[in-house]
Order: sequence, then structure tokens, then C-alpha cells
Amino acid sequence: MSSKTDRASWLQGPDAACNPAPQSAARPWRLVLLGAPGVGKGTQAELLGETLGACHLSTGDVFRAAKCLPDDQRSKALTEALEFMKRGELVPDTTVLAMVRERSSCLRCQGGFLLDGFPRTVAQAEALQGMLDELGMKLDGVIDYQLPIEEIVARLSGRRTCSSCKAVYHLTTKPPQVEGQCDHCGSLLFQREDDRPESVKVRMEAYAQSTAPLTDYFQRLGLLITVPAEGSPESIFQRTLQTLETRVPA
Ligand code: AP5
Repeated sequence: MSSKTDRASWLQGPDAACNPAPQSAARPWRLVLLGAPGVGKGTQAELLGETLGACHLSTGDVFRAAKCLPDDQRSKALTEALEFMKRGELVPDTTVLAMVRERSSCLRCQGGFLLDGFPRTVAQAEALQGMLDELGMKLDGVIDYQLPIEEIVARLSGRRTCSSCKAVYHLTTKPPQVEGQCDHCGSLLFQREDDRPESVKVRMEAYAQSTAPLTDYFQRLGLLITVPAEGSPESIFQRTLQTLETRVPA
């Protein structure tokens, strides 16, 4: 079990130092989490990160952190990215890749990494491969979480997020102790703009068109590990660990 860092180098950019500094892991896992919006990637990344010590690198979290910045501290590209995100569309590859390249030191994190929401297009996957080659690193695997669409929509429509610490809840499967209030810090919970039905539809279409083809891409590289995402977060987490044990050589 490792102490959780605040991921400052990832969320704020390379000039910020993570606190506490990531610990080196005996085995630094380098994984990509794939799967449709709302399948539970972020939930699993939290659980896997606690156990494996790897840092949760979510591109969506970087965009959401940028949203909290004052207008004059946000680049034009990031301001535009937030508009794409609000509509449920993918942010252009050039913007995403510039942001990830700026943070490529996080790929060298001594605890390893769990990429969540990146790559999302074949162009992004190829660029990631190039960055890892430059760093002399390889992915251990790409976990593809799978769930029927009706269950995904139910997970998305009930999601609520803390406005301050960003903890994630669900109205029925993980309700807060006090309605509308975060258990950890007491701040108000809100519904993400892109979890509204009109944006969810666009996100599912973008996933089918641009991200689903990545399963073939990673299958060809021998990296794809499919994990059913039915059941409780804990049972999916245990299933993921067991699958990693059997599929990824020590
Ligand atoms: P991003 O933040 O990456 O969102 P996403 O992929 O759409 O995934 P989500 O965060 O919605 O869901 P999740 O799978 O993490 O599920 P969670 O664990 O929260 O991206 C957002 C946007 O940013 C994109 O649409 C795009 O505009 C832009 N973007 C980001 N990266 C980009 C890129 N690389 N290229 C281009 N654009 C990019 O779980 C969901 C809910 O279900 C929660 O309420 C949770 O409590 C609940 N839950 C989880 N597991 C379970 C379970 N087992 N049982 C019951 N409930 C569960």
C-alpha cells in the first residue's frame, strides 16, 4: 500500500512537484485503462493506484483542473478544449498531445503509471508509443473494461463529483452519507456538464468511432487485456489484479 500523491506534476504541469513525492515501486506498472465513458476507469484507477503504487494519469482530470483556473491563466488551446469537452466531443489530438508531451516526465514516474482517457485515438496511441520509445520504456498492458451500454448510462447519469476534492460518488451505488455533500471534505457535489444526456450521446458516438478501434490496435501489439466490468468496484478490482497476474509476465 502506498501513500497517495496529489498528482501535482500531472494536474498542474511539470513545474509543480507531487506531494508526497511518488515512492519507487519494486515493480513499476505501466498500464493504459481503456473502456467507454462511465465504465469505471477512474474508480478502478484509484483502487489499482493504491495497491500497485502507480500514479493515476487522467487527461480528463487535467482539463477539469484547467477549468478551475482564472481565465488569464488558461491558454487559448485549453479554453477551446473545455468547449469540446462540454459538448462531449473529443479534444483535438494536437491539444491533447501537446499537453501530454509537456507532462512526459510523469511517464517516468518511479511508481509507474495508469493512463486513463489517453490514448483515445490511433494517432494518440502512435504518439504515446513514440514517447515511450524515446524514454526506453514499454507498456505492461492495456486493460479494456467492458460493460453493456445500459449499465454504462446508469453509471454516468448517477455520478456526482465533489466540487473541491473531486471524489466521485454515485446516487445509488455509492451515495454520500449526507445528500449532496462530500464525505471527505464536506463540499458540495455536482453533476459533470458532460454527464447530461445530450453530451453522453455525443461521447458514446465519439468512443465508438475513435476509441473502440484502439482495441484492435493494442490487440495486434499483444497488449490487450479484456476485463468484464460487471459487479461492484471491489470485485472488478480483484478481477483486474487476477487477470494481470495471469496475463503479464513478472
Ligand atoms: P474523461 O474524464 O477521460 O472521461 P471518460 O472517459 O468519458 O470517462 P469518465 O470519467 O466519464 O468515466 P470513468 O470510466 O472514469 O468512470 P467512473 O470511474 O467515474 O474525459 C472527459 C472528456 O475530456 C472527453 O469526453 C473529452 O472531451 C476530453 N478528453 C479527455 N481525454 C481526451 C483525449 N485523450 N483525447 C481527446 N479528448 C479527451 O465511474 C462512473 C460512475 O459509475 C461513478 O459515479 C462511479 O461511482 C460509478 N461506478 C464505478 N464503478 C462502478 C461499479 N462497479 N458499479 C456501480 N457503479 C460504479
